[in-house]
Amino acid sequence: DEQELMAGFEATIERHDRIEPRDWMPEGYRRTVVRQVAQHAHSEIIGMQPEGNWITRAPSLRRKAILLAKVQDEAGHGLYLYSACETSGVSRDELTEMLIGGRQKYSSIFNYPTLTYADVGTIGWLVDGAAICNQVPLCRTSYGPYGRAMIRVCKEESFHQRQGYELLATMMRGTDEQRAMVQESVDRFWWPALMMFGPPDDDSPNTAQSMAWGIKRNTNDDLRQRMVDMTVPQAEALGVTLPDPELRWNEERQAHDFGTPDWDEFKDVISGNGPCNAQRLEHRRRAWEDGAWVREAATVFARRTEADREA
Ligand code: ACO
Repeated sequence: DEQELMAGFEATIERHDRIEPRDWMPEGYRRTVVRQVAQHAHSEIIGMQPEGNWITRAPSLRRKAILLAKVQDEAGHGLYLYSACETSGVSRDELTEMLIGGRQKYSSIFNYPTLTYADVGTIGWLVDGAAICNQVPLCRTSYGPYGRAMIRVCKEESFHQRQGYELLATMMRGTDEQRAMVQESVDRFWWPALMMFGPPDDDSPNTAQSMAWGIKRNTNDDLRQRMVDMTVPQAEALGVTLPDPELRWNEERQAHDFGTPDWDEFKDVISGNGPCNAQRLEHRRRAWEDGAWVREAATVFARRTEADREA
């Protein structure tokens, strides 16, 4: 009965074992997995847009090849994560409809514009850097298909982070104009990158339950701190300044103190009013509608092949 099933589920969570799609799980757990994994998948797919914006204008063949490969990796991560999400009983069509209908979210960070080529480097360094901080612990998330997807995604993500850092390091060895371009880009992306980890812990409605279920392994503020501590020495090595006058090493805490992100801006962006929200969703909607004939043709073909086999 239900009580026994719940006891089994809780014991699995307690042991830090995986919950698999065929296992019994409380409806709230399933809903939370769908919400988080879908949001993650949508972020990978929408995340192709800001960088895709520069593919036709890359400064060299080498940079273009790197950027193309990176954006294709993101498509791969998205599809991989949609598959993980489908194991909990929703279809990719439903997920896409929910994204386009504004009923599911994607990461706030992709609602900011990419104004210069330095942004390609900054996204790799800071945005993918934040993604790694957030996702490495998710390799141990309690939902099996999600955790396994994270292992491969993290490997590719750390390559993305290095390519971003290398791009910026190259520009920093260039002209004064190039160095200024890097600094301007870092100034724009620093705070939005810190917002990627979500609201502060005392204003995060989902963290406690998600941690109790082992879906999340760390709180939002924990991971944000990790990101700051990881990035400060990298910024020094690059020779860029992080735009936070309150940023300093705290000997007692053995961690950096830092300022407060503009949480009003964050709330604005996640409720649809960021600088590029409308454009990002509209682009996704158009791609979905333009692809309808491919999905229909594939369905008809599959049905016919099935009928032929039965005949
Ligand atoms: N962008 C958009 N929405 C956000 C963000 C963000 N950066 N951070 C929090 N939210 C939303 C939450 O989804 C939640 O809204 P919902 O209930 O409608 O889903 C609300 O704000 C409150 O936040 P929390 O209670 O803290 O939500 P949660 O426990 O889900 O934590 C977090 C948010 C940390 C983003 C978590 O979902 C997570 O770790 N997700 C996996 C990582 C991910 O999605 N990465 C994608 C970007 S990285 C990349 O693709 C390169």
